[in-house]
Amino acid sequence: MSLKKIVIDPITRIEGHLRIEVEVDDDNVVRDAWASGQLFRGIEIILKDRDPRDAGLLAGRMCGVCTNSHFRGAVTCVEDAYGLEIPKNAEIIRNLMAMALFIQDHVVHFYHLHSLDYVDVTSALTADPKMTSKEAHKYHENPYRNSHSHYEETLKKLDNFVKSGKLGPFANGYWGHKTYKLSAEQNLLLISHYLEALKFQTKVSKAVAIFGAKTPHPQTLVVGGITSVADMLNPQRLNEYLFIMKEAHEFVQRAYLPDAKLLALAYRDEIKAGVGRANGNYMSAGGYSFEDERKLFCDGVIHNHDFANVQDFDASKITEEVDRAWYEGNQFEFEVKYTDLNSDGSLKTEKNDDKYSWIKAPRYDKQPMETGPLARILISYSKKNPLIISFVDEFLEETNLELIDLCTAVGRNAARAIESSYICEYIFKLVSELLQNVKYYDTDTWKQYSFDALQSEAQGKAFLEVPRGTLSHFVNIKGTKIENYSVIAPTTWNATPKNFDGLRGAYEEALVGLKIEDRSKPLEVLRVIHSFDPCLACAVHVIDTKGKELGKYKISSLK
Ligand code: NI
Repeated sequence: MSLKKIVIDPITRIEGHLRIEVEVDDDNVVRDAWASGQLFRGIEIILKDRDPRDAGLLAGRMCGVCTNSHFRGAVTCVEDAYGLEIPKNAEIIRNLMAMALFIQDHVVHFYHLHSLDYVDVTSALTADPKMTSKEAHKYHENPYRNSHSHYEETLKKLDNFVKSGKLGPFANGYWGHKTYKLSAEQNLLLISHYLEALKFQTKVSKAVAIFGAKTPHPQTLVVGGITSVADMLNPQRLNEYLFIMKEAHEFVQRAYLPDAKLLALAYRDEIKAGVGRANGNYMSAGGYSFEDERKLFCDGVIHNHDFANVQDFDASKITEEVDRAWYEGNQFEFEVKYTDLNSDGSLKTEKNDDKYSWIKAPRYDKQPMETGPLARILISYSKKNPLIISFVDEFLEETNLELIDLCTAVGRNAARAIESSYICEYIFKLVSELLQNVKYYDTDTWKQYSFDALQSEAQGKAFLEVPRGTLSHFVNIKGTKIENYSVIAPTTWNATPKNFDGLRGAYEEALVGLKIEDRSKPLEVLRVIHSFDPCLACAVHVIDTKGKELGKYKISSLK
């Protein structure tokens, strides 16, 4: 048996720089895989010696996509350090911003970053508009913009686009690949939603900006609360937010969720074969409480697909290792240690201590974990969270699937669509709660404190569920300055390199066993990796390109 390597670098339609190498046997089945973060970052260094009250605005710059998530992560961990509890209304406004972002992020991921792995644009050109409308009715009783004329118009747009020769996002696809399974009409249906989703994403961004002043990079979170008080108290602004989210709800219910069902039915064989299944370890920090302290997401940890035994999430079990990452040191102190690639330009992966990624290796109780919408669904469903059970059951019934089937590449997308669906419902409950508070004259939005009176040495941490999974921020404060800052982002978990024990992370494990139809067009690899919604800009931190030591990061002291 001879083993051959396939290298994809960079993986496109993601945020940041990711390289994937897989080793395939004579039958083109993946035997091993390596995920490598190829990007230098250093925002945590910039945070050093800064005023802790500025941490949010700086941390938001870690990524161009997850700006609000890091903004909130930083503000929350500084509040934790100082023991500041924020008013309920501030928490609600922060949640409303986050929830709009969840919806925007998931929709953009499904249509603009991922759908072309399943949708053959060239096939859509041969679709019959009338049959397309009929096809849409199989997945929803009242499909989104489902007139014949709408599909005719879409077809015309697509045709003009192709004739112009400027294919833009549709250039360089693996069109005609044997593993494209959708019919011409199904392809046209999804392309139509792809185009609608472009308009959708600008609208939902406005919803974030109503309370955030702008997006990306909202401005209105401050240590102790929020500053968008006038927006919160203005019925017109609240109505505007509600109107946008109602439209978003319509799109999710009548386009996104039905499309996820369509995909699950078309790729049933892949789902049943477990294509894209990772190691079965799932983690969620939980959160987003309202009313009587019920939580939208349960916290928990699942090992080896054992859904019956969900353990409580215990942050003290998190460690970071660097055996195979371009760092040196022990669990708590890292220095940059870049090692060259092989002479042919491939990653050094032969020996079990060869280093091959800028992403560090976070572990929970020594195990690699998968985090994200799928993990949240599995944990919340297994813990019988009444807010989500019916959404999951309905999807599984209509597609004739079981919970374990979601633990696949296609299933990960289904989980994201299901999550979007129940988040939309939750948003309306949250707005009602806010209106109730304001009605009874509870208009607090900021916890008053004197910065000078706060303790001079403090340590804080924040664990938040954000669109791509569990995000952790850690801060050490000394005097009035940040002494040390550290972040573990969702993609750091999912794209982790191996470790001294050789255990693969979620990306790598999900690729093993994958059958590649054509080695020169590894579409199957893209499907698996894209299903995680990678954000590499978030995943790598604390680097200097000249290899100088930038600082030591002590996570152990932050328990
Ligand atoms: Ni990001």
